[in-house]
Amino acid sequence: MQPNLQIHLRTLHRRDAATLMERWNQSASFDPLAPGLLDEKVWQDPDHDKELCLVAETSAGLVGFGMGVARQADDQIVGFLKLLAVATGHQRQGIGSALLRTIEQRLAARGAKTVRVGESAPNYLTPGVDVRYQPATRFFPAQGYQPLSESVNMIASLENSRGPGAGDLARLESAGIHVRRATTSDARELNDLLRQFGGTWEAEVACSLRQAPARVHLAFRGDELLGFAACEGNNVGTGWFGPMGTTQTARGLGIGKVLLDCCLADLAALGHEQAIIPWVGPVGFYAEHIGARVYRKFQRFEKVLG
Ligand SMILES: CC(C)(COP(=O)(O)OP(=O)(O)OC[C@H]1O[C@@H](n2cnc3c(N)ncnc32)[C@H](O)[C@@H]1OP(=O)(O)O)[C@@H](O)C(=O)NCCC(=O)NCCS
Repeated sequence: MQPNLQIHLRTLHRRDAATLMERWNQSASFDPLAPGLLDEKVWQDPDHDKELCLVAETSAGLVGFGMGVARQADDQIVGFLKLLAVATGHQRQGIGSALLRTIEQRLAARGAKTVRVGESAPNYLTPGVDVRYQPATRFFPAQGYQPLSESVNMIASLENSRGPGAGDLARLESAGIHVRRATTSDARELNDLLRQFGGTWEAEVACSLRQAPARVHLAFRGDELLGFAACEGNNVGTGWFGPMGTTQTARGLGIGKVLLDCCLADLAALGHEQAIIPWVGPVGFYAEHIGARVYRKFQRFEKVLG
């Protein structure tokens, strides 16, 4: 740490965007931000709080950026450090810890008892810290963060993604199951289904449903909704797939594969060459059905405040 370095923290302004992105993209090179994505991550966050979006300045100008969010989860407030980067050439001078300390204090003042890094679903950039950011994997434990489990993102080529195969669709049809694209009038029934899975999927899928056309596909038997798959509900424009889910009793019938193929065809039609399947649970499902492979690993971290 440079003893006489003057670090000034202030709230982020939209006019900082170009400098911020330039510095961010050099330092957080596995997570490049473009204007639309920065806007989605920062200003479109449902819990955006400008007092938790901070830039650090020194005599060299804008050299650091950190963003926190406080989310209501059941009956408690959970804090997240959503984004943090210090410009290349300005690291290890206490800038990252100054940003983090202030964000933690402000999260605590909003009632958060814990802070997690990344993973601020439904609007998040990464489900933890990419393990290739070695300074970050040392920084967070030094700041009192405990490692949780690891998470992974997978990637799949969209080269041959032209929608579900005729055989797969015929098998579903012979079981009385039909598949179609969702519309906004499906929202209520879809939300009922999403609640069965718990978690934070409602907001993410609502974003997919708002796209034109809706980036959600549904499977029904008669009027009964059995499964869904969504894409473009977070990190829009990056080829982001998910979430997806099939009700417990309808699993094993091939619904998931068909709905997945519908979404991948959407992403291919949007011009993506690859789909990102984030924060994956069933790695084998995606590996087997679409040849997806794990391409990023993340260390999850949590700190108990106070
Ligand atoms: C993680 C990051 C934000 C830290 O910012 P910083 O301004 O360098 O952090 P500080 O100077 O406040 O703290 C430095 C402390 O972190 C740890 N640390 C940081 N870099 C380290 C390295 N290369 N090796 C070992 N420890 C390191 C040490 O504990 C260090 O203290 P020390 O210098 O007294 O040993 C910065 O490395 C960065 O921007 N990385 C790229 C983006 C990123 O990984 N973001 C996090 C993902 S959410």
